[in-house]
This record gives sequence, C-alpha cells and structure tokens, in this order.
Amino acid sequence: MLCYRGLVFLFAVNVPIVTGLEPEFLYPLENVTIPQGRDATFTCAVKNLGGYRVSPSSSTSGDHSGGAKGRVAWIKADTKAILAIQEHVITNNARLSVTHTDQNTWTLNIRGARREDRGVYMCQVNTNPMKSQSAFLEVVIPPDIISEETSNDLMVPEGGSAKLVCKARGYPQPEILWKREDGLEIISRDGASGGKTKTPTAKGETLVLSKITRSEMGAYLCIASNSVPPSVSKRMMLQVNFHPMIQVPNQLVGAPTGTNVTLVCHVEASPQAINYWTRESGEMIITNSKYAMSETKTSSYSVHMKLVIMNLQKQDLGGYKCISKNSIGEAEGNIRLYDMELPKHSKKIGDRRRDDEANELTNDRDHRLNHIYQGSLREAGSTLDPSGVAEDSASSTSSPERCSVVILWVFLHLATNRLLACT
Ligand SMILES: *[C@@H]1O[C@H](CO)[C@@H](O)[C@H](O)[C@H]1NC(C)=O
Ligand SMILES: *[C@@H]1O[C@H](CO)[C@@H](O)[C@H](O)[C@H]1NC(C)=O
Repeated sequence: MLCYRGLVFLFAVNVPIVTGLEPEFLYPLENVTIPQGRDATFTCAVKNLGGYRVSPSSSTSGDHSGGAKGRVAWIKADTKAILAIQEHVITNNARLSVTHTDQNTWTLNIRGARREDRGVYMCQVNTNPMKSQSAFLEVVIPPDIISEETSNDLMVPEGGSAKLVCKARGYPQPEILWKREDGLEIISRDGASGGKTKTPTAKGETLVLSKITRSEMGAYLCIASNSVPPSVSKRMMLQVNFHPMIQVPNQLVGAPTGTNVTLVCHVEASPQAINYWTRESGEMIITNSKYAMSETKTSSYSVHMKLVIMNLQKQDLGGYKCISKNSIGEAEGNIRLYDMELPKHSKKIGDRRRDDEANELTNDRDHRLNHIYQGSLREAGSTLDPSGVAEDSASSTSSPERCSVVILWVFLHLATNRLLACT
C-alpha cells in the first residue's frame, strides 16, 4: 500500500523548484522483531538532506529563508500518527526518542516495547513529493504456561483414562509438546480415530491417555515453545493405582542346614505398599541375628523383597509368606523351605558356574548351592527337558562329579514328582 502510494507520487511528479541534490535514503529501513519489554530501534539514513530546499509553497514550516531544509519525520503507518520530526518527539509517549548520531542518520528508539507498539513505522523526508520508507516492528512474547488452565499431578486407577491439559500464552501462540520424563514413549489415543499410537512426543494442548497401564506411570512434561526463548515446561506426575501383585521366582527352596538361605519375592504395587515377611503361622519376621531383610526398588512401582535366613536350622524349615499391602488391597506370596541333605561330592557343583537369569550369586558356596537347587527345581517344574540338565553337566564333569549330578538329578526328579503330585 505504501509502495503503491510512492508510485502514485512518482508519476504525479510536478517538479518543484529545487536547488541542490535530492535527499536519498542510503539503505532500506529494516524490519525489527524483539521480545516484549526490550528496546527497539529503527535507523533511517538519508543523504543530501542539508543542501536541499523545497519550494516555499510546499513548505509549511515557515522557514524564514523562504525555503526549508529537508526534515526527517517518523510516522506510525497504521494510526497515521506523527511520532517525531527531527529530534522532537511529537506524540505523547515517553518511551520514544530520536537520536541524530551523524549528519545522515536518524534513529527512532522505542524503549520497553509493548505489544501495541507493533506495526509499520515510516521514515519520511519532506521532499515534494514526500519520500518515505517503512519497516515492520514485531513484538513477540515468550511462552508462559497458564497454570489455572493446566493440569496438576493426577491419580488414575489402572485401566482408567486421564486427560492432561496444558495451556500457554505468548506471541506467536506457543505450541505444546508432551513427553515423558523417563524418555519412554507416550501411548496416546487419537480422539478422532480412537487408534492408539506410540510416540516419543505428542503435540497439542490436551493429551488423552486411556486404558492406562502401570507402565505409563511417571512424570509427564508439557513444553510450550514459540521460537521466542525461553521455552517453558510443566511437570505432571501421573500415578496409576493398582492392587499389589506378588510374583515368587522360587516357591520351593531346598537348602542344607547350617547354610544361609535367601528367599525372594517380586512385588508390584501403587500407591507404594508396605511389604513384610511372616512365617506360615502368621508370625511377623523381624530383623535380628537370624534374619536379614532388604528391599530393592526396580521401578517406581516394583520392589524386590529379599529375606536371608542365617544358619538354617530344623525349626526354620516350613512355610514363609511375603506380604504386600497398600491402600487398595494386599497380596501374598508363599515359599516353602525344606531341608536338603547334601551328597558328599555335590558341593563341587557349587564351583561350577551355571547361568541363570536371576544370578545373584556371591562367592559364598552355600548361596550357590541354594541357588542351583532352586534353579533346577524351577526348570524341572517347567517344560525344560531334565535330561538336558544332566547332559549339560556331564559334558564338563569328571566321573565322581557326574555321579553326584546323577544323584542330584534323581533327587530333583523325585522332588518334582512330589511337587506335581501336590498340585
Ligand atoms: C518486513 O515485514 C513485513 C510485514 O511482516 C513483510 O511483509 C516484509 O516482507 C518484511 N520485509 C523484509 C525486508 O523482511
Ligand atoms: C551367613 O551370613 C552371615 C552374615 O552375612 C555371615 O557372617 C556368615 O558367615 C554366613 N554363613 C555362611 C555359612 O556362609
């Protein structure tokens, strides 16, 4: 529009009485983009201002010499308000000033720019016709999360759904990105199609999670950004609640007296549960010289419980329970500990490493023995072919050891049959 006006002037030229060279802009006015609150400047460079005189008829300044020197004015194009002429600020705005740094350069300063300052600024020279150039001031605003309209931490039962909302203001309108703090993928349900998608990040003000599983528990971050730094984020904890669950890797544990035996239960619960051990009778086990208990957190909702029974005696044999209780319910796991007389040579097996996924072996011989028996029992109870166990050992075993392996195998076989008969 401004260009158009310039063109009209160009073709409507009605050459005034001019002496000297015409003023000319040295370079174009440059667009400015600044964050709200910062200072903005436009620099207008004009040459040949001094020698130029306009005709008396077009001069409104009443210059006593009958002509006028070229003058530089600043105009806000949208309101047509004259902001300043030369160094004099006309408009009633204390945040504006004009500096005339050298012969040719006029700078408009806008202190602490506000949103309403945005628009087209024009630097005009009072030639006849007028010459002007203009540029745009954009005032941007970094994102800010609107806390009243944004979700807080929330709790949902497993299987339920959750709607996380994050709203932000700023200019340009910020974009919202969701991600999980632990870096896992977000399983979101697309509102329109209803299909589930797994993505590292999700876009949009709302994040709908449905049929939530415990693995979706954790901190979610909404990040608002709009190319104006800094981006901001809000952290929301999503807690998924469910009944405690116990898994017992070894339900039957055989160990010789005099050794230390370790019993293990894996617990999952949310909210966090209180976990403890009891004897079969229900008598609670406390830490003392006989028992050592420990818990290892393996995720935000799972714990490995461990009970070490030291120096196993006859009266320690029998049933043990691991119990987990939270506000939603409780679960228990059962372990039966029985005495196992060791064949004389079998201790050598303890020196032979056998891979096991739950390898918690120490250099303690007795720990290893317990472990092997526990492991084999579990294997025999599953689909693993027991002959594979014997072969496996035989391949790397000398004859006295092979003998003990066979004894062991027979024993295991019997134990398994008994176990199967029981169930
Ligand atoms: C200045 O900004 C205006 C308005 O946003 C735009 O149309 C124009 O192309 C920009 N000019 C330059 C030189 O970037
Ligand atoms: C059993 O554990 C205790 C405590 O860790 C230790 O002092 C003891 O030597 C262990 N006993 C055996 C037989 O390994």
